[in-house]
Amino acid sequence: MTRMTDQELIEQTLNALHGKEEEYRTTVFDRLFSTYPDVHRNFLGLEGSKVRMSNEVIELMRGLASDADWVEMQTIDVIDLHRSYGDFALDQFFHFADFAVDSICKVTGASAEQRAAWQRQADKLKPLIEQARPDWD
Ligand code: HEM
Repeated sequence: MTRMTDQELIEQTLNALHGKEEEYRTTVFDRLFSTYPDVHRNFLGLEGSKVRMSNEVIELMRGLASDADWVEMQTIDVIDLHRSYGDFALDQFFHFADFAVDSICKVTGASAEQRAAWQRQADKLKPLIEQARPDWD
């Protein structure tokens, strides 16, 4: 059997996530708030932001898996936007990407191969996040 590409492994996991999106969102935000309780107060419209943040991080990683050329600019835009939401650290963004991978994989019961495919995208996303905020240097 031929090896599956990261894009295929990611699409498989997303199919398995169908109908479990709320569980994924709850898991990822529980991780964020238990690791960084102070940031809770920065979320003024938590329910909407939970959906947008959880979806956006998936879309960026999904875009990276297919080598989409819009990912770099979109990452810069979305990360830069956070300047108006609070004073956040680079590590918090790295962790959010890792929490998203972990939550997607837990909720879908992903295989080690699927998990590795997601983690590779999170690891590609991190330098793009870092590049979006030159003031983090
Ligand atoms: C890859 C990582 C992340 C992505 C892709 C992302 C994406 C987003 C998006 C799409 C929005 C909604 C913008 C809108 O409504 O127009 C948002 C809002 C927000 N994000 Fe993130 N985010 C990330 C990480 C983080 C982290 C690590 C924190 C804090 C530690 C954070 C704090 C916030 C806050 C406070 C808001 C506004 C919430 C509100 O007004 O209720 N984000 N984010």
